[in-house]
This record gives sequence, C-alpha cells and structure tokens, in this order.
Amino acid sequence: MRFKRIRQSAIWRSVFRHSLLDSARNRALAVTSNVFLHIHPVRTKASAVKFRFTFCLGGLALFLFIVETVTGVLLMFYYRPVPEYAYLDMKLIDNAVRFGMFLRNMHRWAAHAMVLLVMLHMLRVFLTGSYKPPREFNWVIGVVLLVITLLLSFTGYLLPWDQLAFWAITVGTKMAAATPFLGSEGPFHHLLGVNHFNDLRFLLLGDNVVGANALLRFYVLHCVLLPLACAVFMAVHFWRIRKDGGISRPL
Ligand code: HEM
Repeated sequence: MRFKRIRQSAIWRSVFRHSLLDSARNRALAVTSNVFLHIHPVRTKASAVKFRFTFCLGGLALFLFIVETVTGVLLMFYYRPVPEYAYLDMKLIDNAVRFGMFLRNMHRWAAHAMVLLVMLHMLRVFLTGSYKPPREFNWVIGVVLLVITLLLSFTGYLLPWDQLAFWAITVGTKMAAATPFLGSEGPFHHLLGVNHFNDLRFLLLGDNVVGANALLRFYVLHCVLLPLACAVFMAVHFWRIRKDGGISRPL
C-alpha cells in the first residue's frame, strides 16, 4: 500500500514514465524512454545479434574506451602536466598511491587492447562486406575513429615524461615536419611559405623542441579534445548503424 503511494507520487512518475507491468508495449517503452538503453533498437533480427558475425568487436572497443575514460580521470587526480612534476607524479602513482600501479597498468593495457580491437573490428567489417552501401558513410566515420584512437595513444605516450616518451615524441613529431606541404622539411613546403616556426610540428609542440609547451599541449589533447571528439564520432557511428537498418546480416 505504502509502495503504491510512492509509485503514484509525482517524483516517481517524473522518473518512470510508464507502467512497470510486463507487457510488449511496456518493454518497448522501457528501451525508448531510457537515454542509455535507447542506443539499441526495440526489435532486432536474431541473425544480427549472432556473436560469430560481429564477435562483439565494436562493442568491446566501446567498452575499452569507457575503461580508458574512468581510469584516465582517476589518474588525472594525481598527475600534473609540467616538466617539474610529470615524471615524479608518475612514479608516485606507481609507488605511493593505493592501487596506483594497477590503475596505470589498466590504463596502458586497455589502450593497447583498444587499438588492437578497433583494427580487428575494421577487419571484420571488411571481411563481411559490411562497408558496402548504405554503410559506406559509416566506414568513413570508422576511419576517423581509428585515427582518433591512434592519436589518443600517441599523445598519451609523452605524459610519463621519461626518456622513452621524450624520444618517441621527438621522432614522431619529426615525421610531422616531413609532411608534404605542411611540414617545414617536407616536399612542397615552400609553396605555402611553411617554415620551422609555423609548420605542423610547431603546432603540435608549441615550440621547436619537446618541452613544457609540448607536454601541456599533449595533455590537453589527450585528456580533453581527443576523448571529446571520439565520443562525438562514436555517437554518430552508432546513430548511423540504426539509420542504416541495424547491423548488416549474413546473407
Ligand atoms: C573507436 C572505434 C570504434 C568503435 C567503438 C566502433 C563501434 C562499433 C559497434 C559497436 C558496431 C556494431 C557492430 C559491432 O559491434 O561490430 C560497429 C559497426 C560498424 N563499424 Fe565500427 N567502431 C569503431 C571503429 C570502426 C572502424 C575503424 C571502422 C572501419 C573503418 C568501422 C566501421 C563500422 C561499420 C561499417 C559498421 C557497421 C557494420 C555492420 O553493419 O555490420 N568502425 N562499430
């Protein structure tokens, strides 16, 4: 009786918009009226959810992105992106923070796994011919997601601020300097008036060498811009799957 009063209260009805009785209509409403559940369609063809068709590789890539976001935010509580503290903070996370080494390793291994799974997902989409019309636009969105995933790993590489990080980013950004047109050491750079102080490498490093500016830029890219871009493109990717009639199915 008391529970009935709660269920009839304005607060309850403002959260749960439909009856909880088990009926086909209420089941459909439970999905469509929930922001998290409505990523899935109310009805799906049984063949489309066959594990051996997708191996859930895209879903696992999404899961790893969520793991990266949660562990990354926890790491941000301890890490300061300035040369004076970055390496020290990383060592402190390993040795002085409870479960710190576990947290760092989880972040690192989930990042490796995400790169691998996104590539395997791409291979699956290719092998099942799921890139064909009407899904060709979603393939292009996928390519953007692949690039963002790789950039997330690349920008995270500098943050420990150790020798490996320093020299890896030195080499990586030297490659940016060799880009045609946009790199000061690349072919055709003179056509656009590109030099050491306005090329792609300078844009990435905020300087001509890997230093404090580069660390800050990579930190902002790694923790804010790229994850945001990834989330936006993922939303478009999932929306597009729905608009293209759900996941493609075996013939
Ligand atoms: C962060 C990266 C990515 C995430 C989280 C992601 C997520 C997903 C998910 C959850 C699906 C549903 C089917 C499944 O689980 O396999 C899917 C389908 C699809 N993905 Fe991705 N994806 C990513 C990257 C890519 C890449 C790199 C490509 C290709 C270049 C791609 C192309 C597609 C296409 C064409 C479909 C539709 C497949 C079908 O209808 O069978 N995605 N994606």
